[in-house]
Amino acid sequence: MLNSSTKLLFSIDAGGCLSGRLRVPGDKSISHRAIMLGSLALGTTRVSGFLEGEDSLATLEAFRRMGVSIEGSGKGSLTIRGVGMNGLRAPDGPLDLGNSGTSMRLLAGLMSGQKFPVILTGDKSLCSRPMRRVTEPLRRMGAHIETRDEGSAPLCIAGNGTLCGISYSMPVASAQVKSCLLLAGLYAEGETCVSEPAPTRDHTERMLRGFGYEVAHDGNRICLTGGGALAATDLDIPADISSAAFFLVGATIAEGSDLLLEHVGINPTREGVINILRMMGADIEVLNPRVAGGEPVADLRVRSATLRGVTIPPDQVPLAIDEFPVLFIAAACAEGETLLTGAEELRVKESDRIQVMAEGMNTLGIDARPTADGMIIRGGPINGGRVCSHGDHRVAMAFTIAALRAAKPIVVEDCDNVNTSFPGFVELAGAAGLSIRDYREE
Ligand code: S3P
Repeated sequence: MLNSSTKLLFSIDAGGCLSGRLRVPGDKSISHRAIMLGSLALGTTRVSGFLEGEDSLATLEAFRRMGVSIEGSGKGSLTIRGVGMNGLRAPDGPLDLGNSGTSMRLLAGLMSGQKFPVILTGDKSLCSRPMRRVTEPLRRMGAHIETRDEGSAPLCIAGNGTLCGISYSMPVASAQVKSCLLLAGLYAEGETCVSEPAPTRDHTERMLRGFGYEVAHDGNRICLTGGGALAATDLDIPADISSAAFFLVGATIAEGSDLLLEHVGINPTREGVINILRMMGADIEVLNPRVAGGEPVADLRVRSATLRGVTIPPDQVPLAIDEFPVLFIAAACAEGETLLTGAEELRVKESDRIQVMAEGMNTLGIDARPTADGMIIRGGPINGGRVCSHGDHRVAMAFTIAALRAAKPIVVEDCDNVNTSFPGFVELAGAAGLSIRDYREE
């Protein structure tokens, strides 16, 4: 039996290259939204490509506990029997959302529109992440929400508020905040409008339209009117570009690589990683572009290339916000300096990704200097060593990829949370050519 005090580690041999074809698991952001909208629709929604990772499963479990019948194959196929906009039931206790910021922030909006009280909680990392960014505008809409003094979870939502649409200008570019308010807006009187300071992922808007709900988009302003209904539909969820990113960087930095990543979502609001890697000199081909489930999809062929350091354009930051841990590894393998600014949001992700990545990179002998809102990285040799992911899935996978260019093996500590977004990572990475094993330690 697993002892909960043991922690998962990855041990990766140095060198190697990546080849073959592979399909990474389904898109995490889209998987959350599929459960939410499928549950609130009238009729049966069939989903394929669902991410069977801990984060999206936390959302799934939350809706089951609110009375929605969701049957799954365990292999990405789901049948959701929607209960309609007002068909959710009070759960029998707090909803534990684990490590998942998307579940918590989007549910904060949806739950504010229900007629029953609910408590949203999560693990230590999630309960220390900023929630005022959603609770403050939700209160303006009329929601009754209590938080801890610091504004963080658990969130107690009274469920007795009558919501009124507002016009809200987001201080930070956040798809989670935008989606939270649009979902609350479904239950609000009148129109809810959200303006974003820079484009952020638009999966909520696309999927709402797919479920037959009208969403207006004018420049940077997105609006909908409350009181409508959602009609069930079928959804084909593409592979997650944020998971593909590890292999895009891995195949680029490892000499002799040639890898095909199948059916990857290439929504323009998520393509920052491709744009930045190409600016650095990466060889990424976008093959067979098509549309699946209302989202642009393609196969990505990536071959090794020599990278050069770049100044990352600020407009690419929100479009690549989850990919910076592995982009930092790309920068460590590039000639010259890479400069990232305007990315202070990285400090409030599953870990402080600026601090945690800089520490680990320094341990591996990389010249990485953290700044308040980014990082300066000078490319050079990578040593081996033992680094800590601080329980952050994307940090753990980024350091795994670094081994492809390291002089000696790399050991990454605290890797259990890789299962939040990328179940089967070790097996898939092994099949692509990494020499990786996982084991437990006290
Ligand atoms: C997400 C939005 C992003 C991203 C997160 C998923 C979403 O967060 O970092 O992993 O599904 O809406 P922010 O919107 O807070 O930047």
